[in-house]
Amino acid sequence: MNQNTDFIPFARPSLGVEEEEAVIRIMRSGWLTTGAETLAFEREFADYVAAPRALAVNSATSGLHLALEALGIRQGDTVITSPYTFTSSAAVARHLGAELRFCDTARGSYNLDPEQLEKTLAATKNCRAIIVVHIGGLPCDMGAILPLARRYGCAVIEDAAHAFPSKLPSGYAGCLGDIGVYSFYATKTITTGEGGMVVCANEKLAARMALMRMHGIDREVWDRYTSKKASWAYKVAEAGYKYNMPDILSAIGRVQLRRAAGFLEQRRVIAERYDQAFAGLPGVELPPRSEGHAWHLYALRVREEKSGMGRDALIEALSEQGVGASVHFIPLHIMPYYAERYKLQPESFPNALAMYERSLSLPIWQGMHEAQVEAVCGAVTRLLKPR
Ligand SMILES: Cc1ncc(COP(=O)(O)O)c(C=O)c1O
Repeated sequence: MNQNTDFIPFARPSLGVEEEEAVIRIMRSGWLTTGAETLAFEREFADYVAAPRALAVNSATSGLHLALEALGIRQGDTVITSPYTFTSSAAVARHLGAELRFCDTARGSYNLDPEQLEKTLAATKNCRAIIVVHIGGLPCDMGAILPLARRYGCAVIEDAAHAFPSKLPSGYAGCLGDIGVYSFYATKTITTGEGGMVVCANEKLAARMALMRMHGIDREVWDRYTSKKASWAYKVAEAGYKYNMPDILSAIGRVQLRRAAGFLEQRRVIAERYDQAFAGLPGVELPPRSEGHAWHLYALRVREEKSGMGRDALIEALSEQGVGASVHFIPLHIMPYYAERYKLQPESFPNALAMYERSLSLPIWQGMHEAQVEAVCGAVTRLLKPR
């Protein structure tokens, strides 16, 4: 760990007095786990993204698992996703005994390629669902993906872990497919430390996810403990999971939600400043962009042939200059578990591989001071200046 106190971390949550007060309020209320605060968070989140129903969960991973389970995905089914993602997007299919089929990203993009998706769909038996991932907060081409999925009878789950609040003319990313899942993990655009939110317009699917989120019990926990009526009885209708979000975390989430638009504006300003600073550097390519970008990540691509410095060396050198950077993502098809199970080679998905080998994510978080943004610009520019 870099001990320098001036070190600019790759990510840092923005939590203030309001979040502290919200947590204290819940601590003093006598009700810590899922209750009225979580209900309020769900309603406010649903209103924000204009979804009919939102379900708070303890992580996006849990939410993705619930989504596939509600769709009835099981052994014998196949789920398509991109290799360019975090393991959660794929592992949840394996939790249910289903198999995975990866589909490459578009050339020069971090997101699933609709053209290759069509070929993959045509070549895949028993495909029941597609998990699209809006990497870094940049929405996938849902206008092309959704009709393809419909044509092949597949459900679409949006892994919107990075994509709150990515807004398109057709709605918020996460609300365009059948089920959308957001993450509130510590590095995300809004955070509850750990947590997530599932949105779904289909009442039956939402009811199944609500049931399975809470042990498969047919009655919510706060109702069991706070009801004035005889309240000890409940039925276990299914062998469910324990995926609920506690009120302490929902209290933080409600404050973060109110601050989300301001956070996005701050990340946009940082992204613009980076664009301006790096546009003239032949050694790097700027991140792909489109309307509605949430700027969860700002990923530069290194052109080693022009910069004389590879991605790994640049991350090392930036760290020495007090700038934290990260890589999103090491693609799943080169991870031992997926590579071995599906007999994949690094070249199996050349576009995802090429993006991975050259990408690094720079610090972009609300609360970054101008001087810190300038320090990042300065460090990258110094290191990659043509010599
Ligand atoms: C693309 C993507 N999907 C899903 C997840 C899982 O999120 P969580 O940590 O909330 O389970 C992550 C986590 O970083 C992610 O990056």
